[in-house]
Amino acid sequence: MMFTISTSRNLARLRISTGPSPSSSSSSSSSHCLSPRNISTTVPSSTLSRSLTHRTIASSTIIPTSSSSSVLRQLRSSTPSTPLTLASTRGMASSSSSSYQKVLTKSSINPHVLNVEYAVRGALSNKANDYAGIIAEGKQKEKGLPFDSVVTANIGNPQQQPFLAQKPLTFWRQVAALTEYPALLDEEALRSHFPQDAQDRAKAILEDVGSVGAYSHSKGAASIRKHIKEYIEERDGHPSDAEMIYLTSGASGGVALLMSVLISGPEVGVMIPIPQYPLYSATLSFYNATPVRYQLDANDDWSVDVKAMGEAVDEARSKGTDVRACVIINPGNPTGSCLSVENIQDIVRMAHEKSLVLFADEVYQTNIFQPSTRPFVSFKKVLKDFGKSEKEEERSIATDVELVSFHSISKGVSGECGRRGGYFELCNISPEVESEVYKMASVNLCPSLQGQIGVDLLVRPPKEGEPSYEVYTKEVGAIHDTLKSRSVSIREAFNALPGVECNEAQGALYLFPQITLPSKAVREAEEAGQKLDLWYCFRLLDATGICCVPGSGFGKEVTTSSGESGRGDKDRFWFRTTILAKETDAFVKRFEKFHRELMKKYE
Ligand SMILES: Cc1ncc(COP(=O)(O)O)c(C=O)c1O
Repeated sequence: MMFTISTSRNLARLRISTGPSPSSSSSSSSSHCLSPRNISTTVPSSTLSRSLTHRTIASSTIIPTSSSSSVLRQLRSSTPSTPLTLASTRGMASSSSSSYQKVLTKSSINPHVLNVEYAVRGALSNKANDYAGIIAEGKQKEKGLPFDSVVTANIGNPQQQPFLAQKPLTFWRQVAALTEYPALLDEEALRSHFPQDAQDRAKAILEDVGSVGAYSHSKGAASIRKHIKEYIEERDGHPSDAEMIYLTSGASGGVALLMSVLISGPEVGVMIPIPQYPLYSATLSFYNATPVRYQLDANDDWSVDVKAMGEAVDEARSKGTDVRACVIINPGNPTGSCLSVENIQDIVRMAHEKSLVLFADEVYQTNIFQPSTRPFVSFKKVLKDFGKSEKEEERSIATDVELVSFHSISKGVSGECGRRGGYFELCNISPEVESEVYKMASVNLCPSLQGQIGVDLLVRPPKEGEPSYEVYTKEVGAIHDTLKSRSVSIREAFNALPGVECNEAQGALYLFPQITLPSKAVREAEEAGQKLDLWYCFRLLDATGICCVPGSGFGKEVTTSSGESGRGDKDRFWFRTTILAKETDAFVKRFEKFHRELMKKYE
């Protein structure tokens, strides 16, 4: 296999012999935001040979990947005038171990890595882990912890033990077990532990993938992509194409892949909602793109103000940012909103008018709490429905607007975060760009096979009349009901507290309350040199063991109502909690006690 890199600015010339790209059926006459001329010209380090990590490659370098020493030879022989400065300043050639200088330092590594922030696993979460370690060693008394368990309400990880502990769906684990260890199918005594439909499903999957220990096609197993296509068609009532579907390592893997293709330099702008899930800000930081923020309206169910969104595009473009794409998270994280069809239509119209690729993050599509008033409707459906519009000028929207939709097995009711399964569907993407996406997917070989199997189970649950249907329906129903009732009861408890206001969640796994604290507390946070939301969340963790995420981690900053001193007399902030704590009542009690005591102390 050979990489040929003509310049580091040209991804399209990176050739990897992975066999022919499958035929593309996408056809559109529109001019595409994603075309070979404007897709990424930065080769992400993670996707290339490790030997090349973070080093700018000199022009016209041909690098056989089979020989890392030859890579190094070529890198070292570069003239100083090239951007390549590998060993000259740190004595690389020395054979003496005592003169060895670290290659990897904070100042030598990719500077964009340093800019990445990921609040859901930040300083608070590290401290929560430390507390959990102390408790696991039985040292909480010795260390003076006022709680005997840590509640990781900072991350939507339903099966996390021991305080979230959602049970895996039986059918999923049966099929996973049989595909993992097919010998279970060989003996009647073992086989009889598994219902016939689980056995049949496992056999069908194994017929396609052979072994879960083997690489699959880089887009994912063909039979699973076919099932996803059928699921999408049934959900939306519009055709889908299995060749435009890519299985991924969770939705995150797909987002990173597409962003790496989209972003060609720091002038590229990507619109992200505020508040947003920090995967997006982190990925944009890593690929050194410009985030263009649009606000969600807390006073209108966190809907998108599309007019303001369009103005944000114009403003960013007038300042030289090449705004190319817009991320929408629906249902929302951290907001728990579910967008109305009308709102989605307006977003799609805006994307058409402004020529933007839409990235629809729909990982919470099955976590819907008000299905009759706020059902989930996919961007794909809304986009394709434009093809039936009575207005002629709107019909082309359906075939013009480029859309990438993401889904995952991490959320929903399966909550199989650790299996790393997900997929994306490309819609109206030009065939030439699709083949570049395919090439980049090929560099990663394939997503985890058990993750792919999880997606098969997500899109093809047991049907009525099949042996597993009853148990499956019961389990899924119970998880749905629990999530919904927890969302309602925690919200009610929040709203009964002084200084707390919390919107109703229409979906997803979170609540995002707003807190107003008295000025004394505001001053204390200032004196501690901490943002008010972080200060509050640290206090909450230290007092209760509950770990939440400050709103600023999602880009929702503390709002200040300036007092005489110019500082906020009654500052407001947001934080996000999951609704996953198994012992909801105990969780609520811990929280209430903490908040009331804090308000009393600072009133
Ligand atoms: C909105 C959103 N998108 C994507 C992800 C990533 O999910 P995955 O585990 O599929 O990578 C998450 C995880 O919490 C999320 O909340």
